[in-house]
Parts: sequence; structure tokens; C-alpha cells
Amino acid sequence: MDRMHIRLFELAAPFLDTRENGEHTRISYEFAGRLLDEEQGDPEVVFPAIILHDVGWKCIPEELQLTAFGPGKKDMNLNRVHEVEGAKIAGGILAELGYPASLIEEITEIILGHDSRKRAISKSDAVVKDSDKLWRYSDHAMNTNTERFGMTFRENLERLGRTLDAWFLTAAGRRMASERLLELESTYAVELSAEISD
Ligand SMILES: [Fe+2]
Ligand SMILES: [Fe+2]
Repeated sequence: MDRMHIRLFELAAPFLDTRENGEHTRISYEFAGRLLDEEQGDPEVVFPAIILHDVGWKCIPEELQLTAFGPGKKDMNLNRVHEVEGAKIAGGILAELGYPASLIEEITEIILGHDSRKRAISKSDAVVKDSDKLWRYSDHAMNTNTERFGMTFRENLERLGRTLDAWFLTAAGRRMASERLLELESTYAVELSAEISD
């Protein structure tokens, strides 16, 4: 891993220590690297943005976090807090590491709208948004989200299939998500068939 990325992860770690965000961020970071092999986007923007995008969750009490994200009607004002506070925290971390002001502005702008803004403002933004959502198709998310949202594995797979077209902004992101869906079907084959016979 790039030395600067290691530093960013180190400085982000105290803020990612909630809502399984450490693992979420690590997995999204890996997807960002894969997306940048195929899609346009500035690595100088994308990697810091994805590493820091969820640091703002640390400002939201854990007992309230589940009211602010996930399927169904959610408190979007509270969700907004994680974007606004996250952009502030990220700006501080980037300044501490000596990032130029123009880069800090671009990165924090992406963080500021990573959930609430459905369209991308740049190629880098699209890659960040897709990397964030690709986590939902990981094994880690399959386990985490079924438990969090009280869903069966089948219900979660159906949800991921339904929302795929709406969520992804890049062709590579959509393709990787489809590939992951097939992989999840085989990885969780035992659990899925157990649910049918329940
Ligand atoms: Fe987020
Ligand atoms: Fe995220």
C-alpha cells in the first residue's frame, strides 16, 4: 500500500472505530483500486476520499446510527451529519498531512455529498460512490447487513439485485457488483438453501 494511504488509514482509524467502518473502508478502498484500473478518476482524490468518507459516523451515537442508514425510511438529517462532520474531520487530517488546499477542497466536496448527492460531480466522485456501494456486495456486508437489517440472506441478495442499476454510476462498478452477486450465491449456497427449507 502507498505510504500516504497507510498514514491516512492510521489517522482515520480512531474515527472508523464504529459501525464496522474500519472493515467497510478497507474493502471499499480495495474496490476503488480495482475501479481505477478500468475507470477514469484521479487517484490523488479517490483514495483519500474513500479512506476518509465515513469518519463522520464517529460523531453519531452508536444507538442512533441504525436510524440514519439502510433500507426503509431513515432520518436523513442525521445521515447528513456524518457527511458534514466527516468532511470537517477529513479536511483536518488532510491539512495535517500537508495536502494542498485545492486537493483538500475536491476531496471534502466528495465526502460532503457521498450519500445525499445521487449524481457524481466528477469521474473521481463516481468511482468513490461506486467503491462505497460495492462493499454492500462483499462477504463482510452480507453478514453485517443481514444481521443489522434483520434480513435473510435471500432477502439481502434480492435487495442487492433490485438496486444494482440505480446504485452504480460506472460500467465497471455495475459489472463488479453483478459478478459479486453470483459469487455471493455460491459462497452462501448452504445458508441460502437452509433458509428455503426453514
Ligand atoms: Fe457514508
Ligand atoms: Fe461508506
